[in-house]
Amino acid sequence: MARRMLIAGNWKMNGLRQSLGFLEEIRPAAHSRRNVDVLLAPPATLIVSAAEIAGPVKIGGQDCHIHPSGAHTGDISAEMLRDAGASYVIVGHSERRADHGESSELVRAKAEAAQAAGLVPMICVGESESDRREGKAEAVVGEQLHQSLPGSTAYVIAYEPVWAIGTGLTASLDDIAAMHAFIRSKLPDGATTQILYGGSVKPANAADILSLNDVDGALVGGASLKAADFGAIIEAAP
Ligand code: 13P
Repeated sequence: MARRMLIAGNWKMNGLRQSLGFLEEIRPAAHSRRNVDVLLAPPATLIVSAAEIAGPVKIGGQDCHIHPSGAHTGDISAEMLRDAGASYVIVGHSERRADHGESSELVRAKAEAAQAAGLVPMICVGESESDRREGKAEAVVGEQLHQSLPGSTAYVIAYEPVWAIGTGLTASLDDIAAMHAFIRSKLPDGATTQILYGGSVKPANAADILSLNDVDGALVGGASLKAADFGAIIEAAP
């Protein structure tokens, strides 16, 4: 079965209720691309309202706790995200790995919690600039995969080189192609698992990146905050 394209927007810590007009604006692009799935991960405060007006757009969380409930002030469980209207959750984003010291073992537990709650975890991996400079990119990503993947293969992978996030720098097409092929070779269900690229994806580079064989979509940060840009990326998917 051919893998579907998935264009996902990660709003990170951006967005107020007034921002949700975005969903109306991207709806024509989401509707017109029958072979492309579109996902928006707004901040948790907006998930309920976003899900109510999402139409064809899937809604995701940006993180979840490993437990379904309990004494964990400030945390949000996968079950709560699902109840709020999410069907996906991003886990192991490099900003959480860096800002909150999240280990790959914790990311795996979060992915398992997401699956148990009926969500599809989007598991993020990616090397730092020094890893790449030192020729360790594949080794680092391979180790992250080894430690972060749950037993059940119901997940999406997002390859986001840390040095390309929010910097305007993107990996070269050759490097993206090589890393995606490497990741696919390491996955137990490689032929069917979606692997997205993330890191400064924008309308100007989306068509080239998305046309690569092993790239099944994009995880978009900054350019997902503007409906025109995000819509153009959806249109750029092959
Ligand atoms: P940018 O698209 O802003 O580089 O962010 C990528 C990202 O981290 C998406 O999760």
